[in-house]
Formats: sequence, structure tokens, C-alpha cells
Amino acid sequence: MTEQTLVLVKPDGVRRNLIGEVIARIERKGYSIVDLKFVQPNESLLREHYEEHVDKPFFPSLLEFMMSGPMVAIRVEGDRVVEGFRSLAGETNPTTAAPGTIRGDLGRDWGTAAIENVVHGSDSTLSAERELAIWFK
Ligand code: PPS
Repeated sequence: MTEQTLVLVKPDGVRRNLIGEVIARIERKGYSIVDLKFVQPNESLLREHYEEHVDKPFFPSLLEFMMSGPMVAIRVEGDRVVEGFRSLAGETNPTTAAPGTIRGDLGRDWGTAAIENVVHGSDSTLSAERELAIWFK
């Protein structure tokens, strides 16, 4: 079942020159990059993207982190790619994300500030559709 998902290489991934590493893992898995761009998101775009998280306690640090530099937005296509990329990315917190996943291998958890977990991937086909419309208007 061919699907599309939104992958973001977050500001930490761009700063640490991990764009190629993320893309290589996506392509090695057999998924295709069908659109890609650099973005410096503003607050309103991020509030729209993270609409279900705006009232959570971590939102201010997430916002600050996500506005700390440019990101790469990628439209990725493949069979069951929504679930497949979430599995490549690993769980949210890099400390507990499994080795072999992007976050488990490359993410940083400084304990105090924002979690620097390198990538975002849509969590369902519905979210993917919504998020792709936000980032690729
Ligand atoms: S929840 O409450 O379980 O639904 O939240 P979760 O799915 O774990 O996280 C939602 C998004 O917020 C990011 N997040 C954080 N970023 C920075 N710092 C902290 N402390 C933090 N806590 C959660 C998390 O990475 C998710 O963003 P995406 O872009 O989907 O990875």
C-alpha cells in the first residue's frame, strides 16, 4: 500500500550535518524522496503542525528548539511508509530509543533543555496528509 509521510530533519540534525545520514537510512529502506526543501519555520506554522501539543508542558521548549535553525522537510513515499519511518526513527526519547534507530543512534537528551531527537515523522496516514499540506503548501 503506497503512502506518503512527512519527515522533518530538525535543527539539531541540520546543525550536526546529519541530513545525508537521515536520507541514506530512508533510501536504504527502499523508500523514495519525492519532494524536499529547507525551511525556517515561524511560530504560527509550528503551532499548526503541533496543534495537539500546544497545551503540553514541553511545548515552549519544543517551540524554542524547533525555531533554533533551519530544518529540512521531506516528502517520503513507499509501502506502509508512515509506520515504517516511525520504526526507523525510534521512540521519542533518545535515551531509551533502541540502538539502530535514528534517535537511538544519533539523538541527544541533555536532561534539562529540549530533547534533540533529530527527526519528526507523521504518526498516522491522516496526520501525514494534514502535515504534508502544512509544510508543502
Ligand atoms: S505525547 O504527549 O506522548 O503525545 O508527546 P510525544 O509524542 O512524546 O511528543 C510530541 C512531540 O513533542 C516532542 N517532545 C519534545 N521535544 C523537545 N523537548 C521535549 N522535552 C519534548 N517532549 C516531547 C516530541 O519529539 C514530539 O515531536 P515530534 O516532532 O513528533 O518528534
